[in-house]
Amino acid sequence: MGCGSRTTRFVWQSRRKSGSLRNYFYTGGLILRKVYMDNAATSYPKAPGVGAAMANYIENVGCNIGRGGYQSAYDAAGVALDTRERLNALVHGPGARNVILTPGATYGLNFLLKGLLRPGDRVLTSPMEHNAVLRPLKQLEQAGVQVEYVPCDGRGVLDLERAGAQIGTKPRAVILTHASNVSGGMMPIEKIGPLCRRAGVFFLVDGAQTVGMHPVDMAEMCIDALAFPGHKGLLGPQGIGGMVVTDALAGAIDPLVAGGTGSLSHSLEMPDFLPDRFEPGTLNLPGVYGLNAALQYLKQQGDALREREYRLTRHLLARMLELEGDGLRVLGPTEVFNPRAGVVSVDFTGLDNGEAAFRLEQESGVATRCGLHCAPTAHLTLGSYPQGAVRFSVGPFNTFAEIDYVQGAVYNLLCR
Ligand SMILES: Cc1ncc(COP(=O)(O)O)c(C=O)c1O
Repeated sequence: MGCGSRTTRFVWQSRRKSGSLRNYFYTGGLILRKVYMDNAATSYPKAPGVGAAMANYIENVGCNIGRGGYQSAYDAAGVALDTRERLNALVHGPGARNVILTPGATYGLNFLLKGLLRPGDRVLTSPMEHNAVLRPLKQLEQAGVQVEYVPCDGRGVLDLERAGAQIGTKPRAVILTHASNVSGGMMPIEKIGPLCRRAGVFFLVDGAQTVGMHPVDMAEMCIDALAFPGHKGLLGPQGIGGMVVTDALAGAIDPLVAGGTGSLSHSLEMPDFLPDRFEPGTLNLPGVYGLNAALQYLKQQGDALREREYRLTRHLLARMLELEGDGLRVLGPTEVFNPRAGVVSVDFTGLDNGEAAFRLEQESGVATRCGLHCAPTAHLTLGSYPQGAVRFSVGPFNTFAEIDYVQGAVYNLLCR
């Protein structure tokens, strides 16, 4: 590719069929293409029907559930139950009542770790975790929990042999992310789960970067708890997510938050049945309606959407690898055909990464995320600390042409 042309920076395309100019914006008389490459932060656009379902709840339903004895409350409770059933089926969980609706992955991870671990317990994790795991673990460490790490190599790949040996020492729990939000690399959770189950160790998984877009089978992978947000791979709104817990784990965790559940109101104790035990207070029902619509859409699409995101991810990785060495370093695994989250992070070796991200947006309309991505030890592992990286992350609604355009935009930066 030649360095001279900057015409790729300014692309005019005719309006979409919808007549919307959503993907274009004006700057200094020119119309720039807008390419959203920050789906690892939150997916955009959301699944069709999400906005309408949320508006329908606000405008036409509006009631609480588990409290009111009238038809609209029963109908809304039906939507919440249907949402649990869909989520449970998606991840092959133990049952719909084991699906606890939460404000997001962070809440679920805190709930699980702080509910389970006591002073003197040992917990095993990896350096590739997000701060949603690392910060609660730090707090627990200050309270007397021992946190141990399974080492990862410079591409963020977990040392499986060491993991096996460390699990053999029987810590109270192992917590791992399913995929790194920095490298896109997947953890071998299908291998770790059975090791944990055999050793009698609880296995907790942070599914923030995978649930919805990658298959997760809690039963087959021997996962005791899976936390996830509704607003990333599930293509739903922010403020709603969940954790799915086995009965064995549920019996071992204390409810971190207590309050009204609409059930057993005479008792000052939290109910001992699920989901009520871990779901005090009013649910985010607009979020539940939105998530329900997203789950219906994902079901209709089947594997097609997932396959499309795999192909887009492979294309993105291949395009970035073509530029490697020319002032760009691709972080994480580089095998194009291995499954990975839709994330490719790069380190601009001759340019400040923050400036690169800023210019990508200002000059080419490409929205990315730069910095440390709430995962400082992942960057340490990948050799990109403290400078961080620029993260490109695709969703199923990106296009192959957008990825080619992004490659051109990156190339333009490297040439100047
Ligand atoms: C790997 C990982 N875990 C946890 C989280 C936290 O998710 P949320 O902010 O939706 O609670 C994120 C968010 O980016 C993430 O990437």
